[in-house]
Amino acid sequence: MTVGRAAELTGVTVRTLHHYDDIGLLRPSMRTPAGYRAYSADDVERLREVLAYRRLGFGLREIADLVDDPATDAAEHLRRLRGLLLEQRDRAAAMVAALDRELEARAMGIRMTPEEQLKAFGGQLYDAIGSAYPATRRTEPRIAGRIWAALGDARTVLNVGAGTGSYEPPDRDVTAVEPSAVMRAQRPQGAAPCVAATAERLPFEDQSFDAAMAVSTVHHWRDPVAGLREMRRVARRVVVFTYDAADTGGRQEFWLTRDYLPEFAGLLVGWPSLADLTHAIGGRAEPVLIPWDCADGFFEAYWRRPEAYLEDHVRRAVSVWTRVGRPAEQRAVGALRADLASGRWAERNRDLVALDAADLGLRLLIA
Ligand SMILES: C[S@@+](CC[C@H](N)C(=O)[O-])C[C@H]1O[C@@H](n2cnc3c(N)ncnc32)[C@H](O)[C@@H]1O
Repeated sequence: MTVGRAAELTGVTVRTLHHYDDIGLLRPSMRTPAGYRAYSADDVERLREVLAYRRLGFGLREIADLVDDPATDAAEHLRRLRGLLLEQRDRAAAMVAALDRELEARAMGIRMTPEEQLKAFGGQLYDAIGSAYPATRRTEPRIAGRIWAALGDARTVLNVGAGTGSYEPPDRDVTAVEPSAVMRAQRPQGAAPCVAATAERLPFEDQSFDAAMAVSTVHHWRDPVAGLREMRRVARRVVVFTYDAADTGGRQEFWLTRDYLPEFAGLLVGWPSLADLTHAIGGRAEPVLIPWDCADGFFEAYWRRPEAYLEDHVRRAVSVWTRVGRPAEQRAVGALRADLASGRWAERNRDLVALDAADLGLRLLIA
């Protein structure tokens, strides 16, 4: 591929590509029959990596180190880039949501404080949305019971992606890991000590805990498999409460995503399968049924209490709504409101009323 054609396809100037050549970042290694310099298939692959890292804001020197790293093959680069782009998408979604809130506030004559205005630009999705979390997110004792039983006789426990610490067992020696400053600041007084770090890089020696747990967090990690392997590395036992993204198995289809929020499926694209997640820790998966009166307000919690999804504070405590974006959220909520008023929801979901618990794809992974 000629340099001119690559410039045309990527929207980068020929001058920039020549600069990459001059500094040795990307040299066209072939010649066209007419003697012009041209990119080979491998060069094009490298160009894509360079441009993607560039778009993510990396400096040219950092990019050179990244693409020259002999320990990273092409597939690993794609996975890493994918994770970084998703993180950027989440951050953009959080910023859009925060700006929408500010616009709404302004329209009502309310000025947000300088602190509130700056929060939207925090580094993490949960730095932007985390302050809405405690309104509905708390320990569901029946799920906590399952998690604590799975921890067995572990005395020292690492809680990864700990948030405000909802599922930390009170009778063990717990250490928490949480990357978001907003979430760390909301941990109750007397909660377990909390380290600012991410799952993908746990700052602990091999096998330093009896058990490691992670609750409703794996889907936020840039690289879930790497994070789970880290948990496996630092602990002898691993317990993870997560979601099975495959829509197979005997479970119920969740009416909220089926009938109102099909955009949810887009959030799951590229999400590792339950088998991949289980394999990363070398364990097994058990279904966790969600009780109809679940106390922890996660996305599926209100499956038999549909009116709850009309409440703004319920939605704000669940990242799915920020990630799908305000237009999809408003459309879904409007349609649900209309169907509840007309009786259509009740008619369509008649079978649910008789159930006390439902399998909506939540799983406990135990290794
Ligand atoms: C839905 S909250 C769950 C919090 C808590 N485990 C609970 O059950 O209430 C998800 C948490 O994952 C954290 N998180 C996001 N990315 C992470 C990462 N790469 N490593 C560890 N935690 C992460 C977020 O900051 C957030 O606090």
